[in-house]
Amino acid sequence: MNLIKTKTEIAKYVSEKKAQKSTIGFVPTMGALHQGHASLIDFGLERHDYIIVSIFVNPTQFNNASDLEKYPRTLDQDASFLGKYKNRIAIYAPTAQEVYGPDVISKQYNFKGIETVMEGTHRPGHFDGVGTVLNHLFRQVNPDEAFFGEKDFQQLLIVKKLVEIEKLPLKITGCPIHRQENGLAMSSRNARLTPQQLEEATFIYKILHQVNKDFKNKSASKLRKWVTGQFNENPHLKLEYFEISNVKNLKPLSRKRKNQKYRAFIAAFAGEIRLIDNMAVN
Ligand code: PAF
Repeated sequence: MNLIKTKTEIAKYVSEKKAQKSTIGFVPTMGALHQGHASLIDFGLERHDYIIVSIFVNPTQFNNASDLEKYPRTLDQDASFLGKYKNRIAIYAPTAQEVYGPDVISKQYNFKGIETVMEGTHRPGHFDGVGTVLNHLFRQVNPDEAFFGEKDFQQLLIVKKLVEIEKLPLKITGCPIHRQENGLAMSSRNARLTPQQLEEATFIYKILHQVNKDFKNKSASKLRKWVTGQFNENPHLKLEYFEISNVKNLKPLSRKRKNQKYRAFIAAFAGEIRLIDNMAVN
């Protein structure tokens, strides 16, 4: 297992592998690794000789100081989690200065409207931070392909746009959401939930599942009303938003169109912990 901390070392590692005609996949993370990350790594290892996993809690994508402060940081645990992959994995765990240089600030992006809905509305500046850090990391790591979970579906679309805007020479691939047996989407934030909250949070999956079942026969506005009502009756979870959107541009659904695909999205709080999930509905 290689643990690399500087951009010079990661560039050297990658160029040596590429000189041997090996291909490189990349899984960017903020650590607190779980089975969802493992599924991205496994997906990547089927296509590439080596996978680099970056572990970096990116300050510019947090719009809430306490969320940034409380975000789990578990590098030693993460390194042992990845131990089973032996030498096919390298961890890139840089400091903020190594990633950004002296000014840890976001660039401002125009992601053509994808950034102004849902997470973009509720977390101002979030996608500029995500775009900026990934622009740096993609250039430092120089992978052939990068893998992102569909749990952050909006982020996945943003990353595809970023690669177009920055003209970066890599492929972006989305991977299915990894769920616990009870349906809860795997997330690093789950580490902050109590056992009771972990159980209660499965409500989000149950709602999405029901919306998927009802999507054919009910209008988007009826479904929105139903979901809001369900959350209003639930004392454990506070709904921040529910939306059904077109998968290409994330425009909220008003009238269903044939040949268009939609997904339902939820953001909700369990106590002070913010959880997101989504599901394809046709
Ligand atoms: O999804 C995440 O964990 C982060 O947003 C990412 C892509 C690693 C950028 O910091």
